[in-house]
Amino acid sequence: MEIYVLGLLGSPRAGGNSDLLLDSFLAGAQESGGETEKLILNELQIRPCQECGGCDGTGICIQEDRMREVYPKLEKAHIVAVASPIFFSGVTAQLKAMIDRCQCNWVRRYRLGRPPQDTPSPQGHKDRLGVFLSVRGQMGRGIFDAAGPAR
Ligand SMILES: Cc1cc2nc3c(=O)[nH]c(=O)nc-3n(C[C@H](O)[C@H](O)[C@H](O)COP(=O)(O)O)c2cc1C
Repeated sequence: MEIYVLGLLGSPRAGGNSDLLLDSFLAGAQESGGETEKLILNELQIRPCQECGGCDGTGICIQEDRMREVYPKLEKAHIVAVASPIFFSGVTAQLKAMIDRCQCNWVRRYRLGRPPQDTPSPQGHKDRLGVFLSVRGQMGRGIFDAAGPAR
């Protein structure tokens, strides 16, 4: 089975530092035989989560925007690579909006106990990997701490 690698660009700067890092990561994945795809979140104009509870009973977000294109790709992905610069110690608003809109997947899996959306097997990809690529402007320690994965 071919490995599908989904790249999500959180930076608003096409061709910027995060974009270069992500392209390089995806090129490596492709050279290794993976199928790759890059989504530029800034172009998708994903609305923030409204905490409306619309997904509480179904695990499906009721907002109708281009996040609907992202959900099936997240489910299909064996590897999700996220690239974002540090903006005020966190990730960019574009990426944070996308992350928060995954609340419906959290509800679906952990509250309703159902498999994720559009997943071919009931278990989904148990071994899905996440990669976080990030850049910063400031020198110093701890710049990535709030945005990066918990250690
Ligand atoms: C709104 C904004 C907030 C930023 N906040 C931080 C920060 O808290 N810490 C830091 O090290 N750099 C910060 N930066 C600098 C960016 O992380 C840096 O310029 C980065 O290289 C941009 O990456 P890009 O080319 O992928 O967009 C900030 C830049 C902007 C525009």
